[in-house]
Amino acid sequence: MTEHHSPRPPADRTWIVTGPTSGIGRRTALELAAHGTVVLVGRDPERLAELEREIGSLGGRAVSVVADFSDLASVRRAAERIVELGLPLAGLLNNAGVFPLGPRTTAQGWDLAYTTNHLGPFAITEALVPHLPDGAHVVFVCSGVEDPERRPAVVAGFRGARYLSAEASARGEWAPGGSAKPGYDAYATSKQGNLATVLALARETPRLRFNAVEPGFTPGSRLGRDAGPVVSFVSRYVLSPIAPLVRYWSTPGRAARVLTEVLTSESGATGVYYDERGRPMLGSAQVRDPAFSDRVVAETRALLATVDHPG
Ligand SMILES: NC(=O)c1ccc[n+]([C@@H]2O[C@H](COP(=O)([O-])OP(=O)(O)OC[C@H]3O[C@@H](n4cnc5c(N)ncnc54)[C@H](OP(=O)(O)O)[C@@H]3O)[C@@H](O)[C@H]2O)c1
Repeated sequence: MTEHHSPRPPADRTWIVTGPTSGIGRRTALELAAHGTVVLVGRDPERLAELEREIGSLGGRAVSVVADFSDLASVRRAAERIVELGLPLAGLLNNAGVFPLGPRTTAQGWDLAYTTNHLGPFAITEALVPHLPDGAHVVFVCSGVEDPERRPAVVAGFRGARYLSAEASARGEWAPGGSAKPGYDAYATSKQGNLATVLALARETPRLRFNAVEPGFTPGSRLGRDAGPVVSFVSRYVLSPIAPLVRYWSTPGRAARVLTEVLTSESGATGVYYDERGRPMLGSAQVRDPAFSDRVVAETRALLATVDHPG
C-alpha cells in the first residue's frame, strides 16, 4: 500500500484511470501517480486539467483524454488517442460509473446506466487489450448489488442483476421480479456486466490479468448525487466519517488503496473478485457460471458491432 507520492514516479509504467474527476477514481489516480504516469479519462476537460495540475504539483505526471462513456463513438476515439500517446501501458482501471435513480437514456436512446457502466467500459477495454503488454492489469470497479443473495444490497432495496440480454438491457428492459426502486435494476445489471466481463476475459486472455474490486458502500463519493443535495450532504459529512467502522462500507481513500494494490500487484492473480478490504469474495451464483459470463460477453460484442465505428 502506498500513501506517499513519490517525487519521481517510475517513467516506464502508465496507468489509465476512467472517471478520475470524483470519488474513488480521483483518489486512485492520485495514489497511482506514485507508481508511474496516469492517463486521466473523463468527460469534463476543465476538471481533468485541474487534476492533471494537482498530480504535477505532487511531482507526478498525468495526461488527460476526454471521453463520455455514455457515447460509444467518444469512447472509441479516446481509446485511439490513448494508443497514439505511445506510453508503456501497465494497467487500465475501469472506474467511471453512474447511478441514475430512474430510467434515463443516452443521446443515442440506450439505457444510460447500462451504456455508461457496462458498454462504454467494455468498448474501451476491447479497444485497448491488443495494445497491452503481457502481464498488464485490467481492473473493473464492480458492485455486490449484482448478487440477489447479498444481504446489505437486499436491505438497500436491490434484487440483484436482472439480465435478459445485452440488447434488452440497452433498451432498459429487465427480468421480472426486480427492485421496487427506480434505477436499481439498471445499475445492478450494469455492474454484473462488469464482473461477467472480468471473469470471462480472464479465461479468454490469460496473458493479461483481469480482476474485479467491490469497493464497498462509499458514501463519500458522488455516486448518489441523483438523490439530491440533502442526501449528498448527509452521505458526505455524516455517513462517510463513520464508514471505516461499518462492515461493507468504505471511503474513497481506502477504496483507492485496495485498487492500487490490485493494479500494481506482482502476483499473477487473474479472474479474482476482491472485497472492500482486498480479500477475495464471490459474485452471484449466476455470474459465477462460466456459460453465463461468456454469454454476456458474446452478446455485448454482438451489440457493440451494430454501432458504427468512428470514421
Ligand atoms: N460509491 C459507492 O458506494 C460504490 C459502491 C460500489 C461500486 N461503486 C462504483 O465505483 C465507481 C466510482 O464511483 P464513485 O462512487 O467514485 O462515484 P462518483 O464520485 O460519482 O465518480 C464517478 C466518476 O465517473 C465519471 N463519469 C460518470 N459518468 C461519466 C460519463 N458519461 N463519461 C465519463 N465519465 C463519467 C464521473 O465524472 P464527473 O465527475 O464528470 O461526473 C466521476 O469521475 C463506479 O463504477 C461505481 O459504480 C461505487
